[in-house]
Amino acid sequence: MPAGGTTGERSSAPDVIVVGAGVAGLSVAWRSAVSGLDVCVIDPRPLGGASWVAAGMLAPVTELHYGEEALLELNLTSARRFPAFVAELEEAVGRGVEYLQCGTLAVATDAGDREALGELHAFHQKLGLESEVLGPRECRRLEPLLSPSVRGGILVAGDHQVDNRLFTSALLDAVRRAGVEVVEAAAVELDTDGRRVLGVTLSDRTRRPAGQVVLAAGAASASVGGLPPDAVPPVRPVKGQLVRLGASGPGLIGRNLRALVAGSEVYLAPRRDGTLVVGATAEERGEDTAVTAGAVYCLLRDAVRVVPGVTELEVRETCAGLRPGTPDNAPLLGPTTLEGLTLATGHYRNGLLLAPVTGDGIAAYLSSGQVPPELAPFSPLRFRTPRAEQRTQTAAGDDASALGR
Ligand code: GLY
Repeated sequence: MPAGGTTGERSSAPDVIVVGAGVAGLSVAWRSAVSGLDVCVIDPRPLGGASWVAAGMLAPVTELHYGEEALLELNLTSARRFPAFVAELEEAVGRGVEYLQCGTLAVATDAGDREALGELHAFHQKLGLESEVLGPRECRRLEPLLSPSVRGGILVAGDHQVDNRLFTSALLDAVRRAGVEVVEAAAVELDTDGRRVLGVTLSDRTRRPAGQVVLAAGAASASVGGLPPDAVPPVRPVKGQLVRLGASGPGLIGRNLRALVAGSEVYLAPRRDGTLVVGATAEERGEDTAVTAGAVYCLLRDAVRVVPGVTELEVRETCAGLRPGTPDNAPLLGPTTLEGLTLATGHYRNGLLLAPVTGDGIAAYLSSGQVPPELAPFSPLRFRTPRAEQRTQTAAGDDASALGR
């Protein structure tokens, strides 16, 4: 991942400190700086988290889950904004990020898998989403190197991908070019006066004051000290392991491939340079980022089952990252109970996909104090317990009487 020391040092307090230099934090920082705010980003290892490990699948339709229709709306909105967001980013940094509008083919390898894909397609139809059922021969016509054991699939022409490493490196570059100070240190504590946020304290005890703080530290967002209990984001790490393969010749597949293999899911994202990203596990193992033999074995076994030529590829890298999961799998976007503290975290499986709506939506909120309508269903306040709400109401009542209202 890219190295680089602290850049853009300043003498006065910024309008906004963003804690976290992954895709969410950098998107917020970039869009906020472009909209005229003075921004500082703090992270001990910029791009050292889940965004670097991710595959960059932009797949709101093939990754749709039952009961997540509200999240689907947000995902589709962000997917629609991706081309313009990428164009502006590429313009800002003067290089491409490999946003590939290649579509996704989801395939089944046995009768049970085919039934499951059929149900997904029926769900797509019910929601009016673009998705086409294909027989085994039609699948192989699109992807000639698919295994003869593929039983059929669905083609989703609008599910794309971006090279996560090119994209997030470009964001880091764009942030710096926009004059944002990037401090390579850990923000260990939130400074508050009990009512509103004042800034953050770094691990060397340096205090960094700011008008507003955005917590965008992915799976580590809950571990910043000093958060009032009802502002602690309900995020937990969900481990994802991936294998990056490569070959010097032409790639094996021309579009994203997702497969159900005897009930287990695998995806293959082909890059232009011949890299094939195979992912991903979803494991509840706390902070553990060890790459395990079992995960690599299962990913490769399932990948080979759908594209036998995968056996010939070189293993270039194995990696593991921690997705920030939330109780409803949807992100936490917007103000908290602590004045001046905003969350941009909990993106779970959709960090890359949600970059445009996260960046623009949170930047708009920071500038105007108004939460854009598309972010409203994802307010962090949706997880407040009735008790916390009661406390907030009582505090508001105390305020009113103290002011003689
Ligand atoms: N969206 C892909 C993943 O989370 O593995």
